[in-house]
Amino acid sequence: MKRILVTGGLGYIGSHTVVELISQGYEVLIADNLSNSRAEVLDGIETICGSIPEWVNIDLSDNEKCKLFLKNKKLDGIIHFAAFKAVGESVNNPLKYYQNNIFSLVNLLEYLKENRACNFIFSSSCTVYGQAEDLPIIENAEIKTAESPYGKTKQICEEIIKESSVAYNLKIIALRYFNPIGAHPSGKIGELPIGVPQNLVPFITQSVAGIRGELNVYGDDYPTADGSAIRDYIHVVDLAEAHIVALERLLADNNESNTEVYNLGSGKGSSVLEVIEAFKKATGEKLQYKIARRRKGDITAAYADTKLAEKNLGWKAKKTLEDALKDAWRWQKNQM
Ligand code: WQD
Repeated sequence: MKRILVTGGLGYIGSHTVVELISQGYEVLIADNLSNSRAEVLDGIETICGSIPEWVNIDLSDNEKCKLFLKNKKLDGIIHFAAFKAVGESVNNPLKYYQNNIFSLVNLLEYLKENRACNFIFSSSCTVYGQAEDLPIIENAEIKTAESPYGKTKQICEEIIKESSVAYNLKIIALRYFNPIGAHPSGKIGELPIGVPQNLVPFITQSVAGIRGELNVYGDDYPTADGSAIRDYIHVVDLAEAHIVALERLLADNNESNTEVYNLGSGKGSSVLEVIEAFKKATGEKLQYKIARRRKGDITAAYADTKLAEKNLGWKAKKTLEDALKDAWRWQKNQM
């Protein structure tokens, strides 16, 4: 049985990937320090999978602790989600982001240097593109200066990965997520934003659940068909499944270079107002909103060209925007 370390495995995308790994027969070890997750997520994983993976509460950005934790561990792969990801917070506290996101990665790469057979999947983001010139966005699109320290950490980490993978002959895949949304159809795991949700879909579900006030649509004066900004929303289960096929590519030594990079999106752009209409249609719920000013740092539009993932990974998103919104709403209702 292949043994996979999932860092941040109690987080949103991490927990959904843990479920897919266990379902496909992998042995999973979770490293998560609960800085943006809750231990109860393990109960949801157990309900879905019928087993509880081993979990270690550890700060991977601490070099000594990370070294001790990984000492003598035989791992077939590491899927690295553990990172801070709040764009706004990163602007107010950049050093927290540089310290955590970069040091954690470097500490894990130190392990890989001594254990080259171990494969590595890195959680990256479409944020690295900024506002791309051409849409849909392809993997070799120009990498612009990131809008936030969060985005910069993803860019810096990708550079560290590319250089290290060649220098130490490692096998690494970086996955650039577009906008993950939704929840496992069981309704047992999902997104758990801490505090007021910054992201659109969890704010919508909490607003409809009466936990938050009216939704603010940040801008209807963008150069788009309906004036609201466009994003590529991808179901978190589709995203989780992509991690397994990427891992299997490395386990089979099918990678064509030390580091490969893939976009993970639906390939479809949806505006904020279209998401609102899709939510109402998918759930039958009413949704109050008002138009507000644009949010600082937001781009007009981003959606993925996923041909490379289709060709090399044999992966394509299967679930629709409506599937994701329905699953997100079910998850929200299960928490009430
Ligand atoms: C989507 C659209 C908002 C909230 C961020 C990170 C990105 C990735 C995904 C980590 C935008 C609008 C939002 C609201 C709104 N995370 N919106 N009212 O900003 O595209 O991406 O999350 O990797 O790195 O940057 O996602 O969900 O915050 O916003 O109108 O209350 O919804 O303006 O157009 P975003 P989002």
